[in-house]
Amino acid sequence: MKFDTPATTNPIDQGKVVGRATDRIDGPLKTTGTAPYAYERHDVVPNQAYGYVVGAGIAKGRITHLDDSAARKAPGVLAVVSAKNAGTLGLGRFNTAKLLGGPEIQHYHQAIAIVVAETFEQARAAAQTIRVDYERTQGAYDLEKAKPGAIAPKGEKPDSGAGDFDTAFANAPVQFDATYTTPDESHAMMEPHASIAAWEGDKLTVWTANQMINWGVGDLAKTLGIPKENVRLVSPYIGGGFGGKLFLRADALMAALGARAAKRPVKVALQRPLMINNTTHRPATIQRVRLGATKDGKLTAIGHESWNGDLPGGGLEVAVQQTRLLYAGENRMTRMRLATLDLPEGNAMRAPGEAPGMMVLEVAMDEMAEKLGIDPVEFRILNDTQVDPENPSRPFSKRQFVQCLRTGAERFGWNKRVARPGSVRDGRWLVGMGMASAFRNNLLMKSAARARLDGRGIVTVETDMTDIGTGSYTIIAQTAAEMMGVPLDNVVVKLGDSSFPVSCGSGGQWGGNNATAGVFAACTKLREAVAQKLGFDASTAEFVDGRVQSGARRVALTDAAKDGEIVAEDTIEYGDLDKKYQQSTFGAHFCEVAVHADTGEVRVRRMLAVCAAGRILNPKSARSQVIGAMTMGVGAALMEELAIDQRMGFFVNHDLASYEVPVHADIPHQEVIFLDETDPMSSPMKAKGVGELGICGVGAAVANAIHNATGFRVRKYPITLDKLL
Ligand code: MOS
Repeated sequence: MKFDTPATTNPIDQGKVVGRATDRIDGPLKTTGTAPYAYERHDVVPNQAYGYVVGAGIAKGRITHLDDSAARKAPGVLAVVSAKNAGTLGLGRFNTAKLLGGPEIQHYHQAIAIVVAETFEQARAAAQTIRVDYERTQGAYDLEKAKPGAIAPKGEKPDSGAGDFDTAFANAPVQFDATYTTPDESHAMMEPHASIAAWEGDKLTVWTANQMINWGVGDLAKTLGIPKENVRLVSPYIGGGFGGKLFLRADALMAALGARAAKRPVKVALQRPLMINNTTHRPATIQRVRLGATKDGKLTAIGHESWNGDLPGGGLEVAVQQTRLLYAGENRMTRMRLATLDLPEGNAMRAPGEAPGMMVLEVAMDEMAEKLGIDPVEFRILNDTQVDPENPSRPFSKRQFVQCLRTGAERFGWNKRVARPGSVRDGRWLVGMGMASAFRNNLLMKSAARARLDGRGIVTVETDMTDIGTGSYTIIAQTAAEMMGVPLDNVVVKLGDSSFPVSCGSGGQWGGNNATAGVFAACTKLREAVAQKLGFDASTAEFVDGRVQSGARRVALTDAAKDGEIVAEDTIEYGDLDKKYQQSTFGAHFCEVAVHADTGEVRVRRMLAVCAAGRILNPKSARSQVIGAMTMGVGAALMEELAIDQRMGFFVNHDLASYEVPVHADIPHQEVIFLDETDPMSSPMKAKGVGELGICGVGAAVANAIHNATGFRVRKYPITLDKLL
C-alpha cells in the first residue's frame, strides 16, 4: 500500500478498539516471569553449551600474544574462538568497531575470545586462564582535548542555516552565549545482550534480543560472510533496548562463532561490565548556544553548535537537530563536529541527538527568557513557527506546540511560580518550578505484515516487528481487531521472527505508527480477499462484530475461511510525504523540585508532560512510555554519567550499582496529558510516536526548576549536589 496523500476516513477512525486504554496483552506473561527472553530459551534447541566472552584489557593497541592452551584443556571446555581461528570476518553495516577484535584492539572490552563449555562456570573459569599480552598505544579519551581536531563528517548534514547569523547575532539588542556539556550515558537496560545460536548445516538460527530484526540478520550474515537467507533471528520478547539493541552486537556473533566451533548450540549473555564497555553508549557532547533577540522577545538569531567524539568511522550525535525546527528566527546557524576518541562506540540511545540537544537548547531558552524578563512559557509561544524555519515553504503536517505549552501551564499551576529565583522555601528546602519544550521528529519507515483469518474467526498477525517493552503486541492487536471487526481476544500477534514479513522494527519512536500502518495495509488486503470470497464489494463492505455487511446483507466473517485459511500480506510504503511536510511531535514538560539548602540534595516533587503526537493508539501504554521517558530524563538531569578512566580509556562505573538511574523513591508524582490529535499525513493510522518525545526536554525542565529554586545555573550535566554547593 502506497501512502502518499493525506489519509481520509477509514476503519481505524471508528475507535472501537484503537485509541482505547488497553492492558498489555503480554503483561501477564511478563509479570509472571513466563515471557521467554533470549537467554531463557532452554527449550528451543537441545544440548545447549555455555559461552563466556572475554573482553580486551586495553583500549587501544594490539594483542602481541594470546595463549589459550590452558583454557582448551580446562574441564568441560568444548572450544575457544579468537581472531586466531575465527576465519575472516566482515564488518556490519551498523557497526563501527569490529565485534571480534584482535590483533588490533579498537576499544576497551572489545570481544577478543569466547570460551565454550558444558557449564557457565566451566566457561568462566577457563576464560580466566587465557593469557593475553598487549602492546598498548595511548588513545584519546577526553572530548574537550580532542575537540580542536573535530571534523565535519561526510554523509551527514553537519551544517545548516538561513539568513546571516553572525551579523544578526552581533546586532541583536539582547544576546545570550553559553556552553554546556552532557556526559556519556549508558542504556543500562535490565536484560543484558543475550543470544543462543544454533547451526544446522550452513543455516544459522539465533534467539536473541534485538530491536531491528532485519538489520540484525543483514549484519550477522555480512559479518560471517554467509547469505542472508541462511540466517534466522528470533526475538519475540526484549527486556529493554533504548537503542542499545538496535544493532548486531558481540553476544550474537560470538555465540554463532562458538556454536560453529563447538558443533553445539551455544548461549551467551554479555556480563554486565561488558554491557557498558563492549556495546554502545550515548556519547558526551559539548554544546554552545547563541541566541539574539529583540527587547520584546522575538528571536532574531539562533546558533547552536555541538561536538561529540567517536571511534574512527563513527558518527555524529545530532544534538542540533531540533534547533533547526523548533523556533522561528530569520538568521540561523547549526553546526556539528566529530572528534576522534578511542572510547567504546558511541551510538543511538533513546532520542539520539534530540535528548542531549534539548537538555541544552531548553536551558538556553530559559536563560534568555530570564534575561529578557519574559515568562519562559510566553517566550516560547512568542517564537512559535508553523513552517520549517530553514525552508519556509515547507509546513509542519501538524504542530500543536503552543497548545501543549498553554495546557501544561494551566494544569501545572504555572501561574503560582515565583519568577525570582530562590524565593520559595519549605523549611530547609528551596522550592522551584521549571519547564521546557518537548520535540522529537516523526519518521516514516516502510513496514510489512501478514494477516491470516481462520475458520474459527481468529485473526493472526505476523511481522518481524519487535516489542521492547513498549506495547507493540497490544497496538498491533488493536489495529487488526478494528480492521477486521473482531474482539481483541480473537487476534493473535506473532512478532520478532525474521521468517515473518520485514517491519520497520523498534527504533526512533517510529515503531508504533509504522508497524501498525503495515498491519493496516495487510488487513486492508485481507478485507478485500474476504469480501471477494463472500461476494461483497470491498469498497462498501463493513466489518463489524464478527460479520461482513453491506446494505441488508450480513454474513459471518468465519464463512470466508470455512474451506481454509485466508492469508494476505502487504507493506506500507511512503512516497515523499515527509519531504513535503515536516513531521514532528511536540510537547511541554513541567517540573517542581526541592533543593536542600544545606546539602544540595535535589528532590523532584512533581512532573507533568503534555504531548501532541497524532492519534494515541493505546493511551495506557503510551502513558507508560512517556512516564518511563520522563524518568529517564530525570536520570539524565541528576545522576547518569559514565565516568571515564582517562589513563586506561574505559568507563569505570560499568554496572547497575555504580551507574545510577532513578528508582521509585526518586519519582514521586508524574502526570501525562495527550492532546486530542490525528495527523492525516503520518500514515493511515494518523498516529506518530511518543516513546522518545517523552524524554526530550525533561532534563532541561529539571535544570530550570533547580535554577528557579536556587538561583544556580549548572551547565554541566548531571546536576549532582557537589555542583550546587
Ligand atoms: Mo532508538 S535510540 O532509535 O531505540
